[in-house]
Amino acid sequence: MTWLPRPLVRPPQDVAGLVDTFGRVGRDLRVSVTDRCNLRCTYCMPAEGLPWLPKPEMLTDEELIRLVGIFVRLGVRQVRLTGGEPLLRRSLAEVVSGIAALEPRPKIAMTTNGVGLDRLAGRLAEAGLDRVNVSLDTVDPEEFRSLTRRDRFGDVERGLKAAEAAGLAPVKVNAVAMRGINDHSVAELLQWCLDRGYELRFIEQMPLDAQHQWDRAAMVTADEIRSRLGERYHLTPLPSEERGSAPAEMFLVDGGPEKVGIIASVSAPFCAACDRVRLTADGQVRNCLFARGEADLRGPMREGATDEDLIDIIRAEMWAKRRGHGIGEPDFEQPTRPMSAIGG
Ligand code: 5AD
Ligand code: SF4
Repeated sequence: MTWLPRPLVRPPQDVAGLVDTFGRVGRDLRVSVTDRCNLRCTYCMPAEGLPWLPKPEMLTDEELIRLVGIFVRLGVRQVRLTGGEPLLRRSLAEVVSGIAALEPRPKIAMTTNGVGLDRLAGRLAEAGLDRVNVSLDTVDPEEFRSLTRRDRFGDVERGLKAAEAAGLAPVKVNAVAMRGINDHSVAELLQWCLDRGYELRFIEQMPLDAQHQWDRAAMVTADEIRSRLGERYHLTPLPSEERGSAPAEMFLVDGGPEKVGIIASVSAPFCAACDRVRLTADGQVRNCLFARGEADLRGPMREGATDEDLIDIIRAEMWAKRRGHGIGEPDFEQPTRPMSAIGG
């Protein structure tokens, strides 16, 4: 096994699946299908973009589907396609149908910026996509343009409508609040989503930007979002036992049934209940967004590794998962791979 980069510390043979030393079990696989993006959100990447992965380093559809199949064998029950922007992968519908043909069929979700979704939602739903999360930080077209450096708000609006029409329900919207940029308009964003029946979740900004400019002091906290929304709506927290491994704290808006979620990824991490594992577009398995290392699956696969060999590598990587992201701890290091190349 020449491809093994370091001695594998394997989980004991009698524990099956994607387990780690803290007893967590991987069930939710996030697959980045491309690191490219057609927006340039200021908190994510520089205006000129990033050096994208060269095509030969990207997993082919066949390789990607084979790996997802192995994860499903290991207990994964939900697959989320992410990017970059997943809709930029031309073969996305084929990837979806390949995953939908696995046994047992996992739930298939996608995180997208919504640009181009108006054309693709129907085809993806037919291929087996179950749900979408659309990233949208503002509903002011001008603010959208300055935040994403692209004048595409109308595309996202149409994409959301198309997702709903295609039955990709409930349509969810993810937003990151940034100080001085869109934090003043979080209630407007919520009202816009309520009016259209989209379920909104805010997420605290994490140190994953390509520019390494994240600043804890500037971050808009979950508490701040809650109090901003509280100026306009009455928020009632839903009991946390309904939350499971879902990271969002959910609130009923004005007594419900509408809800809003707030994800305190930094100020109240949910790492202890994490059930996620990640596969990058170039075939590396990551046990955490903030993992310092990753395990290569592409190399071994191209050298003829069997499924059993790959399972060994994946399980060893999961076993090495750290307790938490460690943001704010003295030895915290921002991962070298930015969010756009890991996937949300
Ligand atoms: N912190 C939190 N969320 C982020 N996203 C991108 N960068 C960050 C960050 N640093 C979000 C996007 C999208 C999802 C993929 O992750 O807005 O909703
Ligand atoms: Fe693209 Fe998402 Fe990054 Fe915005 S946050 S530039 S939509 S990858």
